Parts: sequence; structure tokens; C-alpha cells
Amino acid sequence: LKQLLFKNPNEPPLVFHWFPVIGNTVTYGMDPFKFFFQNKQKYGDVFTFVLLGKKMTVCLDTRGNNFILNGKIKDVNAEEIYNPLTGPVFGKDVVYDCPNSKLMEQKKFVKFGLTQDALRSYVTLITAEVEDFVKRHKSFKGQKGTFDVPKVMAELTIYTASRSLQGEEVRKMFDSQFADLYHDLDMGFSPINFSFSWAPLPHNRARDNARETMIKLYSEIVRQRRAGNVKKDSHDMIWHLMDCKYKDGTQVPEHEIAGIMIALLMAGQHSSSSTISWILLRLATKPELVEELLAEQKQVVGEDLPALTHDDLSRLPLHAQVVKETLRLHAPIHSIMRKVKQPLVIEGTNYVVPTGRTLMSSPGVTAQMDSYFPNSSVWDPHRWDEGANNYEDDEDDEKIDYGWGTVSKGTKSPYLPFGAGRHRCIGEQFAYVQLQTILAAFVREFKLRNVGGSQEIVGTDYASLFSRPLAPGIVEWERRSKA
Ligand code: HEM
Repeated sequence: LKQLLFKNPNEPPLVFHWFPVIGNTVTYGMDPFKFFFQNKQKYGDVFTFVLLGKKMTVCLDTRGNNFILNGKIKDVNAEEIYNPLTGPVFGKDVVYDCPNSKLMEQKKFVKFGLTQDALRSYVTLITAEVEDFVKRHKSFKGQKGTFDVPKVMAELTIYTASRSLQGEEVRKMFDSQFADLYHDLDMGFSPINFSFSWAPLPHNRARDNARETMIKLYSEIVRQRRAGNVKKDSHDMIWHLMDCKYKDGTQVPEHEIAGIMIALLMAGQHSSSSTISWILLRLATKPELVEELLAEQKQVVGEDLPALTHDDLSRLPLHAQVVKETLRLHAPIHSIMRKVKQPLVIEGTNYVVPTGRTLMSSPGVTAQMDSYFPNSSVWDPHRWDEGANNYEDDEDDEKIDYGWGTVSKGTKSPYLPFGAGRHRCIGEQFAYVQLQTILAAFVREFKLRNVGGSQEIVGTDYASLFSRPLAPGIVEWERRSKA
């Protein structure tokens, strides 16, 4: 009754809830997209709900995406929301633990490090890693069998990302101490830490120990390299960061190189392992598409399938479309948040949100709307075939230079799995290279299908910062007989 009687016409409608602090936490937490769509129908594109005692104002559709993601720095802020969670994982002076101007410089370092030469070398390294993995992994013994896709892919992507982006020393350490450290550090992203990241709980102590040890290990790699004890024969990001300088002329200190590398490891690992898992789970419901992908490779590189190169990837449109379509339905980041810095009128409404309020955007909603993507719930990579409206960067759209790159605002696009604006992803190219290369290697090696040929697909686990398929997700594989 209170919620109905004391409605402020300038405040967005408040989603109904029974209990003050719990609010809508459970319904949102179980399935954020269902929650967004239901409330969009009830209240429109702008509404407020209560998450763990805090008011969140959601702004949906392309206008909402644009309002939040392209918000001005004086109006909206990311670091105050994210740093309590990410600070203790990445460490000091990097990403959200520093002024935004410094993050922009750090993004520039990374973006400029992902050169064509680097990406070219990564295709070779990732292919080698996948080939080695499917030979030695216990799930792939013999001629056919089954594997738990999310579990096995989490393992594989950590090897592929570390071998390419992180460099040889880190890759070697993943065979020993790094895997445990990574696991402990990752606990820093557990759901309870949205409220209790500072608390002296056992998993937070393990996280802090893991971070300190990892920073020491990365710093030692930098020292060994600087001392000339390691030959510079790769394009990994550590070498690149060692050569970078901030605008004021200072080098990137060791602990910051470590922090940036940890951030890249975490950002890349969760998003890529979830996406490649969804790709394989979806393909297993359409085994004929796996054959179509193989046919595409044969047509482009030849029947005998020589090693794939970076140039080949751009000539495999269906492989790219499989990634693209999977990110449409399974974007790993379901909610993007910002803190309001001064009272703001929400674009296109009379609503005003006060200072301190959290704004929430979810570009995954427009990606699943029938008005933009007919039969939106159907996973169909061919919907992106040439000639279809693929919502690529709109040529008329305003372009902005953030120091790390000039990006289109994406104002009208309903497809923004990598975000937009100053916080937009800089890992997109690397993610595509990694995902397409793993996909191509799997298609060459295996036929895939769901157990018993079913069309079922597992549900989504939304419990963490990044969503992923619920484990187990078992799929049948059959090795292609070598001619
Ligand atoms: C930012 C998605 C892979 C590094 C973002 C954002 C999204 C996103 C939506 C914007 C977050 C916000 O506005 O708050 C994805 C997806 C990926 C992916 C879907 C893969 C499928 C990667 C990889 C890396 C990476 C591989 C590193 C190599 C970053 C960084 C930011 C970012 C550094 C900037 C954060 C900021 O400026 O606040 N990503 N990402 N991402 N991502 Fe990715």
C-alpha cells in the first residue's frame, strides 16, 4: 500500500515487492532477463527495483542503452560501483582503482598491444593448444564419448588465453600453482561479495593471498625479462606493457602490469569460456551446422585443411556468425551498472533520478526483442547472412575518441554485447580470434550432437557477475576418422 500511496510522479515506477531489504533480489537474481521483460511489460522501459536494500533504476531499449552507456563522466560513474568487487581481485592502481583518465590510458595500452601481428601469432598458438588439449584430455580418449562442455571449456580457454595473451611463463605456471591461485582469486567474484567483499570471510582471505602471490609472480616475470633472462620472441601483453609509458612519461610499474594482466585474465576468461560453451552446446542441437562449418573451412583453405591463419578467419563468415548469434542470446554480461553523480532527467521521460542511485542497463534485452530480431528466441547464425539487417556500426552514428580508440556510439543499435561508450570492451578482437580459432579446431576434430539427438539446451547460471551455462552440459563427440 505504501508503495502505491507514496508514488512520486517524478520517480520511475517502483517494482512491487513484499520485503524492504530483500526487495526483488530473488526474482532478479534467478533470471535477470525474465525479470527485465516482465517489468518492461508492466511498467515500460524505465523502472526501479530493490536489490539487497539498494534502489536500482533500469533503463531499457536502445534509448536506455544509450542513456547509460554513453552517459557523461560528470553524470555517471562506473568505478564507485565496480571497485569494491574488482579492487581486491585486480589490486591497486588499475582499472577501477584509479581515476577514469588512468583507466583510459590503460585501455589504450592494451588495445594498441593487440596488433595484427599479435593476433596473427595468437591464431597459431591457440590452434596448437587446442590440438594438444584434445589429444591429452581425459574426456577425449578413444573414438567417441561425451564431455561436460562448461567444465572442459573453462579449462581449455584458460590455456589458450594464457598461452597467447599472457605469455609462455604464465602458461607454464598454469600447469602448476597458477590454477589454484586463479580459483581462489575468482572466489572474489562470488555473489555474496556484491555486499561483503570487504568482510574477513575465509574466501576473501584466500582471494587476498592469491592476489598478492599472483602480483609477485607477474612482477618476477617482468624483472626476469628486464634483466635480459628471457628472449623476446612473442607478442604477449606483458612484453607490450613493459614498453608502454603514461602521458606523463612514467613507465607502467610492475604491480600495475600485474594488475592489468590479472584483469585481462579474469575479463577474458569468464566471457570467453561461457561463450565457447554456449557455441558448442547450441551446435550440438544442430549437428548439420557443424558439417556446414567444416564445409566452409574446406572451401576456403582447401580439402586437406592446412593450418588456419589469421587471414583465413576473416574468410569464414559462418564461423563469425556463429559467434555473433551466440553472443546475441547469451551475452555473458547481463547487467551493466553506473552510479548517478548528480540528479539526472532520464532521456525521453519526466523522471529524475537522484545522486547516488544505481543505474542499470541491459543491452541483452534489445538483442532478444522480436521487434529487432524476428523469432528472437531462435538461435540461427544464418540470420546474420549477408543482406540481412545486421546492425553493424551505423555509418551515420556519432563517433567518439576516448583516447584508446574511436568508437561509434551505438546509439541506435539493439546489438551491443561488448557495450558502448568509454567503458566499451577492448577485448572484442581478441575474443573473436580466440572463439573462432577454438571453434574451427573443434569442427575439424569432432562431430558433435546432443545426447540422444535431443534439442534441449541447459539453462543459464546467473549467480555470478558473468552468466554462464548451468553445469553439467553434456554433449556427445565423435572423432572424425583421419583419412
Ligand atoms: C568491457 C563484454 C571479452 C576486457 C566490457 C563491457 C562488456 C564486455 C559488455 C562493458 C562493461 C561496462 O560498460 O561496464 C565482453 C564480452 C567478451 C569480452 C561479451 C567476450 C565474448 C573480453 C576480453 C578482454 C576484455 C577477452 C581482455 C582481453 C575488457 C576491458 C573492458 C571490457 C578491459 C573495459 C572496462 C571498462 O572500461 O570499464 N566487456 N568482453 N573483454 N572488457 Fe570485455
